Amino acid sequence: MNVLILNGPNLNLLGKREPDIYGHETLADIENAIRHRAFDKGVGTDFLQTNHEGVMLDRIHEARGRFDAIVINPAAWSHTSVALLDALKAFEGQVVEVHLSNIHTREAFRHHSYVSARAEAVIAGMGSFGYLAAIDFLAR
Ligand code: DQA
Repeated sequence: MNVLILNGPNLNLLGKREPDIYGHETLADIENAIRHRAFDKGVGTDFLQTNHEGVMLDRIHEARGRFDAIVINPAAWSHTSVALLDALKAFEGQVVEVHLSNIHTREAFRHHSYVSARAEAVIAGMGSFGYLAAIDFLAR
């Protein structure tokens, strides 16, 4: 199984950005932990973080037929992007949506995610462990 792990806008600042909400680990720390977990489970991985929505859409299009699943933290695009939802609908594999924070206990505008309508599973509020749980779920 091959899994593409996608992280959306501002997640390159993890560790520095609002650490009380998002924790002290950097995105590189989190990606390393995912890589190890996936290796243990015999799962192949590839990673992208981007602050550019079109780059994210292109990468999802390219994933068609190449990856069995996508694990995505769409960050702020969760709450705004029908284009992201449509791109994920065009992907045939499984989709797991991950949020570090529990979006449902935060501002009302974070309570709705367009991506959730396409996701097999949604994980929120587990911090970086959410990505590992997503790998375990896909590899089960
Ligand atoms: C987030 C939650 C979003 O509301 C926010 O815009 C993010 C990160 C999370 O991981 O908790 O950038 O997706």
